[in-house]
Amino acid sequence: MRHFLDVDDLAAPELVEVLDRADRQDHGLPLHGKGVALLFAKPSLRTRHSCEMGVIQLGGHPVSVRPDEIGVNDRETPADIARVLAGYHALLGARVFAHADLVGMAEPAAVPVINLLSDDAHPCQALTDLLTMRQVFGELQGRTVAWIGDHNNVARSLALGASLSGMALRFGCPEGYGPSPTDIDQFLALGALDVTVVHRPEEAAKGADAVHTDVWTSMGFEAEADDRDRAFEGFMVDDAVMAGAHDGAVFMHCLPAHRGEEVSATVIDGPASVVIQQAHNRLHAFRALAWWLAEENHR
Ligand code: CP
Ligand code: NVA
Repeated sequence: MRHFLDVDDLAAPELVEVLDRADRQDHGLPLHGKGVALLFAKPSLRTRHSCEMGVIQLGGHPVSVRPDEIGVNDRETPADIARVLAGYHALLGARVFAHADLVGMAEPAAVPVINLLSDDAHPCQALTDLLTMRQVFGELQGRTVAWIGDHNNVARSLALGASLSGMALRFGCPEGYGPSPTDIDQFLALGALDVTVVHRPEEAAKGADAVHTDVWTSMGFEAEADDRDRAFEGFMVDDAVMAGAHDGAVFMHCLPAHRGEEVSATVIDGPASVVIQQAHNRLHAFRALAWWLAEENHR
């Protein structure tokens, strides 16, 4: 059974295939008469709406629930929940705190499990980010992507996808908040052109084709917010940071954003920002992924 717990569950040609399908309208109704269960343990705007509408466009019926309604890890185990839901649904999607919950669901599930964000990874966002950069640049291979701020779930999945796409990676993170040596080895093994870690945002953005950032404190890490505010001081993506990027470089953010913290209003609301295109691409990327998974698991 093929699952999608992180981007490297796809081989490089499969990733290209999914991104190609995002631009296609000939998907038909592969989920006709089928259900898709979507569990959300954390808040969501983009993911819930893009998944529900993507399922509907494929002819299926989405059923969204909060894990407290069904008692994940309390009333019953992720494994039992997945085994039961697989009898009603063609796909299971889940947004969780612990990535291990997704692994626990995927292991016994007779249908694909899709990670809708965990503390460790946000692969549906990465598909969107790659799709958006491809729409802007044409070809990803050889382009440089800069990540400024926290090497969080969004950063990790983006780095995996960018590596599989043959891009160069630049990280501008405070000490202690960047990728580990193991992460860097993984990016290089997957095909990253080059991986650079620096501790100044201007240095990371210099010459980059796309400058990405995200909140300093992700959902579930609120107890660390004060420490993080101190650690990330000086890491805002502002006009000075963007000025050093490549001509025509874009600014990207998965949203929700905090203007005046990780990004200035002049940048996120300025001409280089593609954040709304990125958000809209969540629908096209998810529909393509669900279409591909539905087909792949029925070969
Ligand atoms: N980018 C993203 O995943 O947004 P939501 O948290 O609103 O789903
Ligand atoms: N890193 C953020 C992404 C939200 C879409 C979080 O996990 O809260």
